Amino acid sequence: MKLDSATMGRVELHDLIGTAMGPLPIVFVSTVGPDGTYNAAPFSFAAPICSKPAIICVSIGLRMGQKKDTIKNIEYSHDFVINSVDENIIKQTIQASADYPYGVDEIKATGLTAIKGDKVKSPRIAEARVSMECRLVQKLELMEEYKDAPGLRAIIFGEVVMAHVKDEVWVDGKLDPRRLKLIGRVGSNLYCKQGEIFELKPVKV
Ligand SMILES: Cc1cc2nc3c(=O)[nH]c(=O)nc-3n(C[C@H](O)[C@H](O)[C@H](O)COP(=O)(O)O)c2cc1C
Repeated sequence: MKLDSATMGRVELHDLIGTAMGPLPIVFVSTVGPDGTYNAAPFSFAAPICSKPAIICVSIGLRMGQKKDTIKNIEYSHDFVINSVDENIIKQTIQASADYPYGVDEIKATGLTAIKGDKVKSPRIAEARVSMECRLVQKLELMEEYKDAPGLRAIIFGEVVMAHVKDEVWVDGKLDPRRLKLIGRVGSNLYCKQGEIFELKPVKV
């Protein structure tokens, strides 16, 4: 089968690339607005892209032609926190993707707990096993097709300036993925738990 992207719709293309490249990560991004209200939302079009400096990018689209709360807050504070999503908080994370009006504290609304950031204005989520405080280093904008009209998608690049890791997932000086039990995204409304983890050493030539 061949699929020509010129003949495909936005949702079909979203599902194709999201599933073909999956499991995608789910990052739970917590932020703060100008009035001090906390916010959190999940994003899967996200990736680590650089090690030192440690830079992570997150791609934030529009909702009904308007900027999402997360990008409004990041444009104000110039920072955000990436919280890892495991089996214990996946339900609350998905709940936070609902269209709460701007100004509703989605951390509180989902029954989670906010903790003030050490180096950034944005809060972190106490229940997450890993939280990474990030300072905005760059924002890129790309034209994208939406339901109603084309609009600008923001791709934000943040440098990790402080990481908070729960002791139970830190083994021999590093994160233990077997204990972290992250959830991945494998399609629209489809998620996966961690399967078998195995090691493959690079081949020496
Ligand atoms: C698992 C999951 C992944 C998502 N990934 C993205 C994404 O990469 N980019 C995006 O713009 N929206 C994504 N969304 C939708 C946002 O979470 C949703 O629009 C949310 O309401 C935004 O919240 P905010 O207005 O508080 O920023 C995702 C939703 C879910 C459930």
